[in-house]
Amino acid sequence: MKDTYKAVEVSAPGTLRIVERPITDPGAGQVRIRVEACGICHTDVATVTGTYPGLVLPRIPGHEVVGRIDALGSGVSRWKIGQRVGVGFFAGEDGVCEPCRRGDIVNCQNPVIPGVTTDGGYAELMIAEARGIASIPEELTSAEAAPLLCAGITTFNALRNAGLRDGELVAVQGIGGLGHLGIQFARHMGFRTVAIGRGREKEKLAKDLGAHVYVDTSTEDVAAILQHMGGARAILATGTSGAAMASLVSGLGVRGRLIVVGVPQDPIQLTALPLVFGGRSIYGSLTGTPIDNEDTLAFSVLEGIRPMIETFPLSQAADAYARMLRGEARFRLVLTMAQ
Ligand SMILES: NC(=O)c1ccc[n+]([C@@H]2O[C@H](COP(=O)([O-])OP(=O)(O)OC[C@H]3O[C@@H](n4cnc5c(N)ncnc54)[C@H](OP(=O)(O)O)[C@@H]3O)[C@@H](O)[C@H]2O)c1
Ligand SMILES: [Zn+2]
Ligand SMILES: [Zn+2]
Repeated sequence: MKDTYKAVEVSAPGTLRIVERPITDPGAGQVRIRVEACGICHTDVATVTGTYPGLVLPRIPGHEVVGRIDALGSGVSRWKIGQRVGVGFFAGEDGVCEPCRRGDIVNCQNPVIPGVTTDGGYAELMIAEARGIASIPEELTSAEAAPLLCAGITTFNALRNAGLRDGELVAVQGIGGLGHLGIQFARHMGFRTVAIGRGREKEKLAKDLGAHVYVDTSTEDVAAILQHMGGARAILATGTSGAAMASLVSGLGVRGRLIVVGVPQDPIQLTALPLVFGGRSIYGSLTGTPIDNEDTLAFSVLEGIRPMIETFPLSQAADAYARMLRGEARFRLVLTMAQ
């Protein structure tokens, strides 16, 4: 057997290059995964540009990883060699910080994050914490399952934890990797679903994904349209523009909530009036835990929800990443590894 594996690493900010790495054994409590697919998430930008706080290069990006376990570290009992598993953005808690001690492990102050604190899935092999992996149902191919582990869980959890009731008006802003799954989850959870995009190009796709109504922010007043429909109970903001998020608050109904999952570089500037008069709120939501990932996968199987993907071989990771950055992905680019 070869004693090296191929990976795509960020060796210096902005540079993705193919390297051969020596194969290492998983440590105590870890598994080694032979990777079959890894999605390219917009958050990978923070690894590729070297700007994620505390990031040390070189680092292999990738936190939408699916593959088969090919080695077990000591003390791992739950998982078997050959089992197909996935790893998302939250891939292990320290168990000792205050949020962990309160059972809120997704907000762990010292989490394991593939592509940030450890090497991720743009590779033929990856080491993961056994407590940080999820089981993959056989109904899903590896390439289909991968985007559900970050883009999927983030939108699924944000919506299911928002205290919404069946039939309420829910809008999803930004129709990218996260947004195109958010639209499907909102529709299948039973909400009146509005997709908010820029331009008409994605209108048909958004409706095919389940949106009842499409709003084009480049020509339409999104707040006026949502108010005309009764005011949104929730708006899931997945885009990468703070200015675009701020403009959504006036589209919320009384006690409506703007749920921020996108992480724009620019500030979200708000006036207090719509917050105070009407009890509207704005808050953030961060990914989910490995068991939330299993829930996301199970719901997707149950409801026939699949990401729309374009696959690229691992060797073309840099091209695929550039395509994502240009906003050309429809809607998630997934790296696949030759087996
Ligand atoms: N909270 C979490 O746990 C979590 C998890 C994963 C990702 N994220 C973050 O979520 C964001 C989206 O990730 P992704 O992988 O879905 O990215 P993506 O596939 O590259 O899509 C980018 C999205 O941003 C929108 N956008 C770009 N420029 C915009 C502008 N000027 N105004 C309005 N919308 C704009 C695009 O909307 P159009 O459809 O209008 O083009 C598109 O929907 C990123 O910031 C990422 O870091 C957060
Ligand atoms: Zn992600
Ligand atoms: Zn912790």
